[in-house]
Amino acid sequence: MIDPTNLFANGAAYERHMGRWSRLVGADFLRWLDAPSAARWLDIGCGNGAFTEELVARCAPAAVTAIDPSDGQLAFARARPGVEMVEFSKADAQELPYTSASFDVAVMALVLSFVPDPAQAVVEMRRVVRPGGIVATYMWDLINGGAPASPVADAMRSLGIEPPFPPNAETSRSDVLRELWQAAGLESIEAQTIAITVTFESFEDFWESNSLPVGPFGTVIAAMSADASNRLRSRLREQLATAGDGGITFQSRANAIAGRVPIGS
Ligand SMILES: C[S@@+](CC[C@H](N)C(=O)[O-])C[C@H]1O[C@@H](n2cnc3c(N)ncnc32)[C@H](O)[C@@H]1O
Repeated sequence: MIDPTNLFANGAAYERHMGRWSRLVGADFLRWLDAPSAARWLDIGCGNGAFTEELVARCAPAAVTAIDPSDGQLAFARARPGVEMVEFSKADAQELPYTSASFDVAVMALVLSFVPDPAQAVVEMRRVVRPGGIVATYMWDLINGGAPASPVADAMRSLGIEPPFPPNAETSRSDVLRELWQAAGLESIEAQTIAITVTFESFEDFWESNSLPVGPFGTVIAAMSADASNRLRSRLREQLATAGDGGITFQSRANAIAGRVPIGS
């Protein structure tokens, strides 16, 4: 059973692995969400603060509270430049330690599929947001090959290895997100697919970023024997198209959803 807290214990490794993807998709998501300035935000599963930093820089918030269950990620997040205004705390998405209606916007950036009970997490987001406020999330489209780790998943499958997607990977689907938002009683629901392109300067850059011991894939790769890891690496090298300059470019897709807490609730 995957333990999401240990999976993401290393903030520096996460930065190398997911930081560039996370900042780009976070920026596009915030542009799409277009939340009003001077809002009180709750960033749930803030991890090492890659998205939190974008939020502070782009949304002119009145206040930002950010939670994560991982001490290692929180330590990295607190040391980031530009997040001095953020109050970071250790907490679980399924049991938010805040009174009802105390935020204007609650967001989960790349988190929902790692939470053991995603429906409970959405109900908690709705509870802590005031009537008329926004509840939103986005996840890489894990099921339909849209994640940054999808090339690794393909290579694993071709070697007969089951890719280690998180237990609630289906919550990354657009229709499942909509059902969760509807079931939580949210209104004015809008969905968006966000496509992000990243270029790795070389195969080595790609491999290092994906084989660090962080996240579901990196953790599995780090635990492989040297032979098994070398086989996977060779298969990836065969499968990934390399540009003339040695770079590797590919696109990932995230499914985003946003809804409002009904007025009068
Ligand atoms: C893929 S990282 C996303 C981090 C950050 N939001 C970003 O966009 O880069 C997933 C995060 O979810 C956190 N997480 C896992 N289970 C959680 C839970 N039950 N409640 C809150 N956060 C959780 C992990 O600790 C990790 O930091």
